Amino acid sequence: MPMLEPLPQRVVVYEVGPRDGLQNERTHLRVDQKLELIRALAVTGLKRIEVTSFVSPRWIPQLADADELARQLPKAPGVAFSALVPNEKGLERAREAGMKSVAVFLSSSQTHSQKNIHKSLEEALGGYRSVCAEARRLGMRVRGYVSTVWGCPYEGPVSVERSLFAAASLIEMGCEQVSLGDTIGVGTPRQTEQSLGAMLKRIPAPQLAQHMHDTRGTALANVLVGLQMGLTTFDAAVGGLGGCPYAPGAAGNLATEDLVYMLEGMGIETGVDMQRLVAAGKLAQRLIGRELPGKFLRAALAADGAGPLT
Ligand code: HMG
Ligand code: MG
Repeated sequence: MPMLEPLPQRVVVYEVGPRDGLQNERTHLRVDQKLELIRALAVTGLKRIEVTSFVSPRWIPQLADADELARQLPKAPGVAFSALVPNEKGLERAREAGMKSVAVFLSSSQTHSQKNIHKSLEEALGGYRSVCAEARRLGMRVRGYVSTVWGCPYEGPVSVERSLFAAASLIEMGCEQVSLGDTIGVGTPRQTEQSLGAMLKRIPAPQLAQHMHDTRGTALANVLVGLQMGLTTFDAAVGGLGGCPYAPGAAGNLATEDLVYMLEGMGIETGVDMQRLVAAGKLAQRLIGRELPGKFLRAALAADGAGPLT
């Protein structure tokens, strides 16, 4: 019997590079540079692109230009651009800048929650109830994120019950999907099987996404478990940009090219054009000015015979 059946026929690759990637880069890109990257991503076939955060510019200066950026987003038929909002003020900024899709975010671990948004999990949930209701009233799509599901940089292991409580609460308050974050990239496949198994008892697979950071090289192995358990949305960042400024060691989201390569190689449709995606990865690398960790991108650059930053 084949070991890898059944698998979904197609999946949604949810690009978070311009947000989760750029929020943690030392190099602060200008608005025109970010727009160049977003335009390059928007022609790859990616349908969901998270472009920025309407958070405090004091905490995330890299994304302080969210309002200006959102107002200049390209017309991209079939592509939904989204942005993080931490509170009502963020939602109001997103609305004024014309965003149609937002995401709220919290952590299942108390310490990460306090460091990231200065609230406990319970306080964050309390605040998001009205943010989600208002976003829905405005006709926006709302996504939710639960961070530290696979482990916290300050507390270590986090109970699945806490993550499930957080995810189920976000769904109940109107999030169309909750993305489960391995914020510091510590997850391993057996743990993924257990965590997703608990989640899937309460939340249907299409309403869950996996958001894996690849800090220890286990992101794709964890995605494979998710695929086998019926998940159909996976977050990734072009070139493997990213991290979380309040999670030491969280460097590097799963690279979009690596994810698309594995999925397409297994006959799972992503709708993403690899050549265009690699072009976007090269652009990201040139703009950031450092070699990005994505393995497919590095192999493609080596095959070109080009230097890493060309
Ligand atoms: P705070 O300081 O506790 O908030 O920040 P406050 O309500 O006391 O307000 C303090 C000041 O911030 C005030 O200004 C507010 O107006 C302002 P002041 O009167 O001092 O001049 N403020 C804002 N300004 C602009 N936009 C806003 C906003 N809200 C308040 N929306 C807050 C609380 C949550 C705002 C702050 O801690 C913050 O912005 N944190 C950023 C957190 C963040 O973006 N983290 C990274 C994203 S999460 C992540 O990466 C994980 C994920 O990828 C999944 C995974 O990997 O696990 C999603
Ligand atoms: Mg992240």
